[in-house]
Amino acid sequence: MTAIEWSTLPFGYMKTNYNVRAYFREGEWSKLEISDSEYIPIHMAATALHYGQQAFEGLKAYMGKDGKIRLFRWEENAKRMQDSANGILMAVPPMELFKDAIVTAVKLNKEFVPPYGTGASLYIRPLLIGNGPRVGVKPADEYMLLVFVSPVGPYFKEGFNPVSIQIAHDSDRAAPLGTGRYKVGGNYAASLMAGERAHKEGFASALFLDAREKKYIDEAGPANFFAIKGKTYITPLSESILPSITNKSLMTLAEDMGLTVERRKIPVEELAEFDEVGACGTAAVISPIRRIVDPATGEEFFYCKDGKAGEVSTQLYKKLLGIQYGDEPDTHGWITFVE
Ligand code: PLP
Ligand code: COI
Repeated sequence: MTAIEWSTLPFGYMKTNYNVRAYFREGEWSKLEISDSEYIPIHMAATALHYGQQAFEGLKAYMGKDGKIRLFRWEENAKRMQDSANGILMAVPPMELFKDAIVTAVKLNKEFVPPYGTGASLYIRPLLIGNGPRVGVKPADEYMLLVFVSPVGPYFKEGFNPVSIQIAHDSDRAAPLGTGRYKVGGNYAASLMAGERAHKEGFASALFLDAREKKYIDEAGPANFFAIKGKTYITPLSESILPSITNKSLMTLAEDMGLTVERRKIPVEELAEFDEVGACGTAAVISPIRRIVDPATGEEFFYCKDGKAGEVSTQLYKKLLGIQYGDEPDTHGWITFVE
């Protein structure tokens, strides 16, 4: 293996040693299988290919100063994958199978867990697909759970440096009663047009509004949205956004820091009143936002006036990463060691 430049890793795919797979057939989950192939055999009429029966997860393993590998809140990812599976009528992977799959995938690829201090981590990508054949629109009767891993750096190339984002008015990633709260591929397909336009026009991401009224902030393409106003942490309440585990954790940490947490609708005009805003997620961690452009009105909202992330966002970022890398005490029981 050629040496990996850990501290300049992008957020991307890198081939590792192994991935793991389990199959749901005739009403039962198989034992885990280990594979060194990057490919999967799939029936040409699989429902994942035709009718979008597909869900995924994203979590990370972190190497501490003590050389121990830590998983962050894996149970939350397992539960969310179960919700996604129920939401689009797929076989539900049991918690223990999910845990076994991610732990095995990490253990088999230990040398790809970035060393402490490099700022990188091992991204874990569980994937659940309908791979039984159907031509009529119906759920499959066979499923595959697969977990691969890839060492990654920051999702936005700016890392913790503030980014610019663009409000999307002409497309929605999910309908109000659609699949936005599940982590299914269709939501990401729906976000591509606005996301790619944003990139082309120099923004790190698109910011989606609520699909019903186009008045309230929903979330960014790959991350939730939060804002700081005085001593309050504010984040959208919406049925069409992904329930982010990072955001949930930041709400707890904000309360620990003495902030008030509000989950409520955020009208676009309120962007003018915030002290700090950011995008948050496993991949994005916290991405401070310095500028939000609304192409519909031409309005621009500016934050991070001195070019740096705000004080509260910085404190939250340090606390969250501190827990994930083991530099801060795990007071909420969020860490599982990979022995
Ligand atoms: N929103 C979307 C659309 C995402 O893809 C993600 C990433 O998983 C998030 C939010 C953040 O969720 P989490 O913090 O659980 O990674
Ligand atoms: C994550 O934060 O884990 C994500 O999945 C975001 C994106 C890569 C889809």
